[in-house]
This record gives sequence, C-alpha cells and structure tokens, in this order.
Amino acid sequence: MNILILGSGGREYSIGLSISKEKEKHNIFFMPGNGATDNLGTNINIKDYNKLAQWAITNSIELTIVGPEAPLVDGVVDIFKENGLTIFGPSAAAAQLEGSKVYMKNILKKYNIPTAAFCETSNEKEAHEFIDTMTIPIVVKADGLCGGKGVIIAQSIEEAKEAASDMLKGTSFGDAGTSIVVEEFLDGYELSIFAICDGENYKVLPAAQDHKRIGDGDTGPNTGGMGAYAPTPLVNDEIYKKVEDRVIKPTLEGMKKEGAPFEGVLFIGVMVVKGEPIILEYNVRFGDPECEILMPLLETPVSELFYKGATKQLDKLDIKIKNEFGVAVVMASANYPYSSSAPAEIIVDNIVDEDILNNTHISYAGVEKEGDKLFATGGRVLLCVGFGTSIKQARDRAYALCGQVHFVGKKIRTDIAYQALN
Ligand code: AMP
Ligand code: GLY
Repeated sequence: MNILILGSGGREYSIGLSISKEKEKHNIFFMPGNGATDNLGTNINIKDYNKLAQWAITNSIELTIVGPEAPLVDGVVDIFKENGLTIFGPSAAAAQLEGSKVYMKNILKKYNIPTAAFCETSNEKEAHEFIDTMTIPIVVKADGLCGGKGVIIAQSIEEAKEAASDMLKGTSFGDAGTSIVVEEFLDGYELSIFAICDGENYKVLPAAQDHKRIGDGDTGPNTGGMGAYAPTPLVNDEIYKKVEDRVIKPTLEGMKKEGAPFEGVLFIGVMVVKGEPIILEYNVRFGDPECEILMPLLETPVSELFYKGATKQLDKLDIKIKNEFGVAVVMASANYPYSSSAPAEIIVDNIVDEDILNNTHISYAGVEKEGDKLFATGGRVLLCVGFGTSIKQARDRAYALCGQVHFVGKKIRTDIAYQALN
C-alpha cells in the first residue's frame, strides 16, 4: 500500500518503523516527519489539508494515519473523506472528546461512565461557589487543547479559585480557558488504555503506564511523557472487563447516538481507585511514548489494523499481541521541559552486543538531519526501546541502549517501569 502518516514525533516514527518491517512492502510518506523518518520513507511538506488531500489522490495514497490531535480537531479526517480517501482517525465532531474537556465530561455524565465529580462553567462566581464545597486537593482544567499543560492540581481553596479565575480571564491559557472543569482529585494509579475503534467495533491493546513528570520518583513539572512500559501487571482481567463494559461500549454507543460515531484510537486515561477504573480523560489518538512500545508489541500488521479500523472491518480482525514486554525510555534535551536547547549531534555507538542488537531499537522524535549527521533539536529527542520476556529484562535492555546513545545534555529518567517492579 501507499501509506501517509501525519505527524513528526516518536509516535509517528514508531508507526512507520513497524509498517516498514511488515512482510508486505509499503511505500510510506510522512507529513512532515522528522530527520529520521526519511530513512523509513519520504517526508513531504504540505500543510494545507485540502492540498494534502489532492496530493494523496495524485499519489494513490490508500491509507492515511493521523498521529497528533491538532489535525483531528481541525477536521483533517472530514476533508480526506470528502475527497474519497481512506483515513484512520475521528471526525472533527468526534475529536471533541479531546478538543473540549467540557464536551468529554458531559458525554461521560450523560452515558453514565465513571468519572470524577465535577462542575463545568464559564462563570467565575459559579466556579468559586463549587470550589467552596470541595476538599483539597482540587483539580482545575481548561476546556481546550493546551499541549498537556491545562491542568492545575491546587493544594488549597485559594489556589483553586485563583487558577479558575486566571483561566476564565484568559490570562493563563487564552481562549482554551474560557470554559473550565473543576473536579475532585482521584487518588490511585494511572493507566493508559487504548481501544482501536471503527465506529461500531473495537480492539483493546495491552494497558500501558506513562511517566509524565520530568524527574525520578514522579517529581518536577509535567512533560509530554518521559517513558512508558506495557503490558502493566497493575491491570487484571477484571479491570479490562470493567473498562470494556462500563467505558468503551457505552462511549461507542453514546457517540453513535450523538451523531459522531467514534473511529480511530480512543485513548482512555484511567485512574484505578480501590480497584475501580475511573476516567480521567479521553484523547483521540495514540499516547506518546505509549505508541512506541505498543506498535512493536503487535503481531498483527499495523497497516492491517489501521486499514480495517478505517474501513469498518475490525469485527473481521483477530488481533494478535506478542507475548513480550516493552519499555521505552525517553532521552530529552538539556533544558526540557522548560526551554529549547542548542542543537547537539547524536552519536550512536557501533553496537556489537547481540542481546542489545536483537532486542532494542531507537524511535526518533525531535531530530533533524544535516548531511549524514543527526542532531537533537526538539525537547523529546528519541526513545530507547527494549523488549524481553519480563519487564525487568525489557527495562535493562532499554537502559543498556541508553548507554550507547550520546548527545550533549542528554537527559533521562532512571526509574521507568518502577511501579511494576516495586
Ligand atoms: P489530563 O490532561 O486531564 O490528562 O490531566 C493531566 C494529568 O493530571 C493526568 O494525567 C493526571 O495525572 C492528573 N489529573 C487530571 N485529573 C485528575 C484528577 N481528577 N485527579 C487526580 N489527578 C488528575
Ligand atoms: N503520553 C501521554 C500523551 O500522549 O498524552
């Protein structure tokens, strides 16, 4: 097939890498891709979605896969479908599950899906009155997309009120904060569960855990994610079943009733509180770094999974997952997540250890190519990914690879998968 992948991160690289290893040979295009995706295919640069759809028609693209949320919320799926193209992802209407936290919370409430008690409002007085009824900590969220930064966990009533006022006045998040959600704090452990959906049917992937904070032991500011592992032993069959029955099925049914059937990746942010899965949020795309371990754990060809998802044929797919564990360690640049860093050349040692060679790989993210050299130019630069028959083995291999990759200022967390290994 001719396949187009939208996005430029480690997530999109990992989708392309898995597709490039399939038995059937594919031509892969990335828009825009990064400095390493052109080793897997061809980078193109057409930002206007209507022009991109025309390009896809001219180049006989048979499947388009969308990585990040912004093009989905902006309606790239609708535009491609209007042009008769096959694309895997939600419509702009369905992408509101991620694009608006108010919309998402109202869907959860309407269809009785377990979530934190909340109040959504655009009114400062109403927000303050609700906050007065709560116990700390209190969670305050801006409605719109904020690149993962729109959530404040306030440790006092005063702080919560201040956060709500700042969001509503537009001082903290601009238009994204003109509506807010104030909700109760959930104390438990967090999971990322992904359902591949075609509007009717779904396939659930092994549950993963992300590591959002910059520092070991979950300290310091939030990031896009510093590492992930899967499958996590923190999930048992009972939790999977509860998530299917109480979350995925009613969401797919509900979105059909709303006139916005959900096709694409439903990323369910779950907090498990005393054995009960409670929904923190929905995203409408793969998590990054979760994608980088889930793609290689698939035995089923990735292109087939997404093609069947895009053409309402998931009921005809018997999804197969490898009997292995994956651990991904993000290597970030010196000043991440505060500010950008000077470009630094990436040197990968000539790896001779068979164990590392056969059971690890790099997924490239914030990199640019200059001649035949690769430079770290983004915040999250690359991921060292390891596999094994246990989480510990996968982790040790991922960290062994980390020791063989170098650039000035490289920064990693040293405790990825700790919750599974403690
Ligand atoms: P979100 O963007 O909604 O995923 O929130 C970002 C992060 O804030 C989540 O991954 C959680 O770690 C945390 N968070 C969000 N909502 C809550 C909540 N109600 N209780 C506890 N932690 C939360
Ligand atoms: N890893 C979390 C996210 O992609 O939002």
